[in-house]
Amino acid sequence: MEQPVKLNTTYRVLQGNCLELLRGSSINGIDFSFVDPPFNQGKDYRYFDDGQNQEKYWNWLKEILDELYKATVEGGAIYFMQREKNTEDLLRILSETGWTFQNLIIWKKKTSAVPSNFRFSKQYQIISFATKGRKPRVFNKLRTDPPLPPEYKYERSNGVYLTDVWDDIRELTSGYFAGDEAIRDEKGDRIHKQQSPIALLLRIILSSTSPGDTILDPFAGTGTTLVVAEQLKRNSVGIEIDPKYVKLIEKRLECIGKTDDVSKFYDYYRELCKTL
Ligand SMILES: C[S@@+](CC[C@H](N)C(=O)[O-])C[C@H]1O[C@@H](n2cnc3c(N)ncnc32)[C@H](O)[C@@H]1O
Repeated sequence: MEQPVKLNTTYRVLQGNCLELLRGSSINGIDFSFVDPPFNQGKDYRYFDDGQNQEKYWNWLKEILDELYKATVEGGAIYFMQREKNTEDLLRILSETGWTFQNLIIWKKKTSAVPSNFRFSKQYQIISFATKGRKPRVFNKLRTDPPLPPEYKYERSNGVYLTDVWDDIRELTSGYFAGDEAIRDEKGDRIHKQQSPIALLLRIILSSTSPGDTILDPFAGTGTTLVVAEQLKRNSVGIEIDPKYVKLIEKRLECIGKTDDVSKFYDYYRELCKTL
């Protein structure tokens, strides 16, 4: 049997402003980026004004996308998370900075919808997948084994390929379904309200990278991207402006705990061995 190649991967956690660090040119050869910025919706960030003029906000994100494009290898991928109401602006700045659009992923987060009296309630977030160049250098077609819908007659012996609608990953919330994964302080309060679920990063990283690739997260937050990358033998670079979160990321990576262990999701996928 072929022996797996032993990979010594590394991670780097940088404290600072991602735009300045990206301009500094020490970050290059990036195969993949996950971008989950503040959404400019009035949330409380210590080092970011989350209620600024929209034009300023989108110009700033465009500059970041431009720098990320330069730092990325040909065929490298970017996954950019945003609110659905910002789809138009996001697709515009991706295209203006040279990225090739591949998919608009609908992440239906299994949480309650945001109600409205004059339009349908909102229940999803978007993740735009784009590449440098026409085609991705890596794309692993993942298959999952979701429960059979009631109207289906037969089991699907090969599972189903993932589509651009993801409705099987729960957002980490403070309510009933908060679970153990959300990082909390001694009082039980969540330390970072925007912590992404490891299941989401697992899916994205497995789809668009190979072992040994280098992954960048310019808005690292609690470091979810790095924690998943490390377990999947991908190199990673995380940038976070708030020193409090930088410490949290370092601690999270020093000893990856049971709640962060991605292997519990492996059974849900088919033929994962090709991507691990
Ligand atoms: C939406 S959160 C990311 C959450 C992350 N996906 C996780 O799993 O924890 C955005 C993060 O970007 C950080 N941030 C804001 N402005 C930044 C900047 N200019 N450079 C780097 N980080 C920044 C915030 O402090 C915050 O932690």
